[in-house]
Parts: sequence; C-alpha cells; structure tokens
Amino acid sequence: MIKVLVINGPNLNLLGQREPGQYGSRSLADILQELQGFATACDVELEHLQSNSEGALVDAVQQAGRDKVDYIILNPAGYTHTSVALRDALLAVEIPFIEVHLSAVSAREPFRQVTYFADIAMGVVSGFHGEGYLLALQAIINRTDPERE
Ligand code: DQA
Repeated sequence: MIKVLVINGPNLNLLGQREPGQYGSRSLADILQELQGFATACDVELEHLQSNSEGALVDAVQQAGRDKVDYIILNPAGYTHTSVALRDALLAVEIPFIEVHLSAVSAREPFRQVTYFADIAMGVVSGFHGEGYLLALQAIINRTDPERE
C-alpha cells in the first residue's frame, strides 16, 4: 500500500469562505473527505496536515522522511512564493511530490507566478479548485501502476 501525505499551508483552513472566486466554494474538510474516498477506493493510505506556520510545515516534511511516506501532495499556499526552508526540507527528504494550487497562479499577480517548488516537483496542478488534489492523487496512482510506465 502506498503512503501519501497531503500538506496544506497557511489560510487553506479558510477554504469555502476565502475568496471563493479564486479558491472555490468548498471547505477543506469537504475536499479532504472526497480525496479520502478516492484514496480508500484505490488502496492508498492518506494522511493530511494543514498549518499556518512555516516551521510546522518543515517539521511535517522531515517527519514524512522518517515515516517513509512515498509521495507528498503539497499546497504551500503563501509560502509557495517565499519559502526556501520548505524547499530545502523537500530536497533533504527526497520524497517525490506534486505541487497543487486551487487557483490558476500563473494567471494572477506576478509575485504568484514565482514558485520555489515547481522546478523540483514531479508536476504542478493549478486552477482546478479542490479537484486539483484528486488529479494529483490520480497522477501518483498512475505512476505506481507498472502497466502504465
Ligand atoms: C494558493 C495560491 C497562493 O498564491 C496563495 O497564497 C494561497 C493559495 C492556491 O491554492 O491557489 O494561499 O496556493
């Protein structure tokens, strides 16, 4: 069974109320419930952490390394555009990860078009609101299916 950790950064606990035009109208709990259903159906062990604090996100990535997590689905939120520390943690643990954004970051303000993660990610899913997490998990599952490679 593959182990996948979903990590969500600052302000994503406010999904549903926060700028629904950018981020969709679903809460984080709703998005995660749907994702958990998909994971269970596909025999994937799924864990989730949301934090507003950069240090807690770095700690979660380091812990994932010790826990032998196979893949990470990461929405660094505001830290996407600033966090050398979180990038370094991902490089240190060498866990393949997919970067997810609910909004289409490449169509927004110039500072959001800079990501400290995209060049070291397996890939980036952006602009599909909460569905992006399902797409990321599907991509991971496809990569673990020997018949597809
Ligand atoms: C976000 C995009 C970031 O620019 C923003 O700071 C977020 C959410 C997204 O999912 O679209 O908090 O990562």
